[in-house]
Amino acid sequence: MARTISIVGAGRVGKTLGKRLRQLGWRIGAVVTRSAATSRAAVQAIGAGLARSGITIDAASADVILLTTPDDKLAGVARALAEVGGKGWRGKIVLHTSGTLDRSVLAPLARLGAATGSLHPMQTFSGTVTPKLSGVIFAVEGDPKARRAAQNIARALGGVPVVIEGRDKPVYHATAVLVAGSGFPLIESAVRMLVRIGFTRRRAMQTLLPLTRQMLDNVERLGPRTAWTGPLSRGDYAVIATHAGALKRHPREVQEAYAALAHLAARVLSKRPASAAKQLKRALKV
Ligand SMILES: NC(=O)c1ccc[n+]([C@@H]2O[C@H](COP(=O)([O-])OP(=O)(O)OC[C@H]3O[C@@H](n4cnc5c(N)ncnc54)[C@H](OP(=O)(O)O)[C@@H]3O)[C@@H](O)[C@H]2O)c1
Repeated sequence: MARTISIVGAGRVGKTLGKRLRQLGWRIGAVVTRSAATSRAAVQAIGAGLARSGITIDAASADVILLTTPDDKLAGVARALAEVGGKGWRGKIVLHTSGTLDRSVLAPLARLGAATGSLHPMQTFSGTVTPKLSGVIFAVEGDPKARRAAQNIARALGGVPVVIEGRDKPVYHATAVLVAGSGFPLIESAVRMLVRIGFTRRRAMQTLLPLTRQMLDNVERLGPRTAWTGPLSRGDYAVIATHAGALKRHPREVQEAYAALAHLAARVLSKRPASAAKQLKRALKV
């Protein structure tokens, strides 16, 4: 059954999900951003919708209203929507896509009778590359009607809905930042370090990416504990001490990240964490 969805905050996530839902037969209602230019561009990217710069009553005239603004804008957007929609919110479904916040940020709309919840795809949306959604976990939370709608949307997009308690969302989302979010600064730092010893950026990427991809393949096949390689996995503290010395010529944050991640590895991957941590401390001091 074709349904109508408004997208409030049509940035990277909003445009991607909006486009996919349109392709799946959903009717697109209002497409809201902060300026005429960005809302027009979003309508073009989605392939349908009414471009709106700012919150108007049009945002409320859909079965489902998907809020894909940044997290820190959600409370204000919910208040603004409540003001323009009034009693018209009764029976509507409002979902946001924050990984950390739960439905409580949508309380002004719930008080007016909307079913509220959240739907978070555990995927990275760059705005340029269209990410894979098939098989992706969507954390779903909300009151029963909103949760059902979020589960249906997740399944329609090819994802796997997983119901989560609102209070668990910060930890759930922190795992994404720990794993994928940390990958960006780590890769950029490693690229810069290679550039400092004469590599071009292109050659630096070519150096690091096959290694990173194979690491992920091995983790998928074997799990991180079995797939683990590197000097610490071999107990080669002399190599670690040499690295620590070489890193002194690089930014302090790189030295700290190397040390923090080595300590984390000792704790979660080593067979003898206490002894590994002690030897590591000595090696990193050299
Ligand atoms: N990016 C990811 O990888 C990812 C993955 C999963 C979940 N999420 C979550 O999805 C949400 C959106 O993230 P995003 O990366 O897509 O953000 P984004 O690319 O920065 O897009 C945010 C959009 O919200 C619009 N906006 C900001 N304030 C607004 C307001 N007051 N009223 C109406 N529109 C407003 C912006 O308008 P302009 O275009 O005019 O600036 C922009 O279109 C966040 O909750 C984020 O945590 C993100």
